[in-house]
Amino acid sequence: MNILKMTEQVAAELDAKLSAERKRHSIQCAVMAADLALKFRGVHPDRAYLAGLGHDILRDLSEKETLLTAQGLGAGKLIKRFAGWGHELIHAPLGAIYLRARYCVPADVFNAIEFHSTGSPRPGRLLLILMISDFCEPGREYPEAARLRSRISGPGFTKEALSFMAREVLKYKLEYLLNRNKPVCPASVGAYNYLCRITGITQ
Ligand SMILES: [Fe+2]
Ligand SMILES: [Fe+2]
Repeated sequence: MNILKMTEQVAAELDAKLSAERKRHSIQCAVMAADLALKFRGVHPDRAYLAGLGHDILRDLSEKETLLTAQGLGAGKLIKRFAGWGHELIHAPLGAIYLRARYCVPADVFNAIEFHSTGSPRPGRLLLILMISDFCEPGREYPEAARLRSRISGPGFTKEALSFMAREVLKYKLEYLLNRNKPVCPASVGAYNYLCRITGITQ
């Protein structure tokens, strides 16, 4: 199945699987991801759009539905791996597995969706784009998102800025958890440290 056909079918699935608000978020995230991909070499905008559109496809499942879906996809290990980290985190890897099983989505789309919540210690460019778009698509109203959006539309948004922006996204997410005395997933710490290194912060 080609990427446009996949995108069409994923879009149709969102109607049945997501609330109107979540669907709007997914579409706005897809549009922003495609826009960012157009600015950089190495990521095709159609793939970025698909990643944005599908990244939350299983986000509205209940805990029980998540468990059943994971078992149905032979991904029961995910439940153990994410035990204790809250039901919210698992929708990312499970959504990636679901989309691969159903549509055979390309590896970079799979990888971006798999890690869009936590980040990854080895992020590809599409993952960085998806993390940024997920955090600050135009429907995100918190001030941090507005601040990042204004930087993205400014003149200094270069290839290097992609890593910088993704680092800012993770920083906000980590601050949010730490300020509420919540634990932080090790994958997010690894991702943040990696982005610090490649953006020149070594200590
Ligand atoms: Fe998500
Ligand atoms: Fe999202």
